[in-house]
Amino acid sequence: MQEKINQYIEEVKAAVAANAAEIEQLRIRFAGRKGILNDLFEDFKQVPNEQKKVLGAELNKLKTAVQARLEELQAAIGGGATSKDESLDLTRPAGTLPAGTRHPLSTVRREILEIFERIGFTVADGPEIEDDWHVFSGLNFPPEHPARDMQDTFFIEKDPDMVLRTHTSSVQVRMMENSKPPLRIVMPGRVFRNEAISSRAHCQFHQIEGLYIDEGVSFADMKQTLLYFAQEFFGKAKIRLRPSYFPFTEPSAEMDVYWGLNSEADYRITKGTGWLEILGCGMVDPNVLKASGIDPEKYSGFAFGMGIERITMLRYQIDDLRMYFENDVRFLKQFNQLV
Ligand code: PHE
Repeated sequence: MQEKINQYIEEVKAAVAANAAEIEQLRIRFAGRKGILNDLFEDFKQVPNEQKKVLGAELNKLKTAVQARLEELQAAIGGGATSKDESLDLTRPAGTLPAGTRHPLSTVRREILEIFERIGFTVADGPEIEDDWHVFSGLNFPPEHPARDMQDTFFIEKDPDMVLRTHTSSVQVRMMENSKPPLRIVMPGRVFRNEAISSRAHCQFHQIEGLYIDEGVSFADMKQTLLYFAQEFFGKAKIRLRPSYFPFTEPSAEMDVYWGLNSEADYRITKGTGWLEILGCGMVDPNVLKASGIDPEKYSGFAFGMGIERITMLRYQIDDLRMYFENDVRFLKQFNQLV
C-alpha cells in the first residue's frame, strides 16, 4: 500500500491538463466518489492497527497533493493562459438562445380577436384607471348598485371618482362617445376586482368586450355572431342563451356552450350538466346609447363580454387561476408549442 501511495503521489505531481475538462477527468480519477482516494481510504480500514499511523499520514499526503495539483492546474487555465491545442473558431455558429414562450392568456386572446376580426370587427382598448362615468354611470348603473361597493371595486384614494376598471365595458362607453355608428369592435383588457385570491378568483383578470351597433341590429344577429365564435373557437356547434341581468343591456343573457359529457373531466368541469357558461351579453340598453350620444330610435346594437382566464382554463385544463400570474417557468414552458 505504501508503495502504491507513493506512486500516486508522483503521478499526481506530474499530472498535466490542458483545459477544464481534463482537470475534471483528473479530479474524478483521484478525488471522485469512486476515485483512487476513496478506494485507498476503503482499503485503509483493513490495515492492521500498528500500521495505521504511518499509512494514514501517507494517505493524507496524497490527498493534499491531489488538492494542490488540481488547484495549480485550475489556476493555470483560469489565469487566462490558453493551451496550445485549444483554438478559437470564430466561424463557428453561435448556439441558440432559449426563446421565451407566449403566455397562454396571450395565445387565447389573439385567437379570440382573430375570430372576430375575420367578420369585420376591429380591435380597440382603453385605460385601466377609469372614472366612475365610464365604468358605472354611463353604463346605467344606479348609484346604489352593489358592483360599486367597496367589496368589489378598487378606488383611487386621492380621487374618489377614479377606480380600477372592474370590466372592459368601460371601453364600450368610450367608443360610443368618440365614434359614430356603425361600430364593430372587440376590446381586450385587464380588469380588477377586490376579491380574495384563490384558485377560482383573483384580483386581476382579463376580458374581451364586444360591441356591434348599427341600424336594425337584432338579438338574432347577436346570437348568430356568438354561435359563429363558439364554433370557431371551441369547434362545438351548440350554444344556449339563458336570461340574465346587466344594467347596461336589455334583454341580457348568459351564453353556454355544449361541452359534452363523454369523460369524467367533462362531468367535473360542467358540474354534470354538459353545459359551460362562457360569456355575458345582451342588447345595448337604450339609456346607454343615449348617454353616449347615440340615437336609440335610429340605432340598436349588442354587446358581450367574456373572461379570458376562464376560456384559457377550459382550453388547457388549467385548474388554478393563480398560475397565470406567478410566472413560474415550469408552468409557462408547457406552452412553448403554441407560439
Ligand atoms: N361586463 C360584464 C361583466 O363584467 C359582461 C358583459 C359585457 C355583459 C357586455 C353584457 C354585455 O361581467
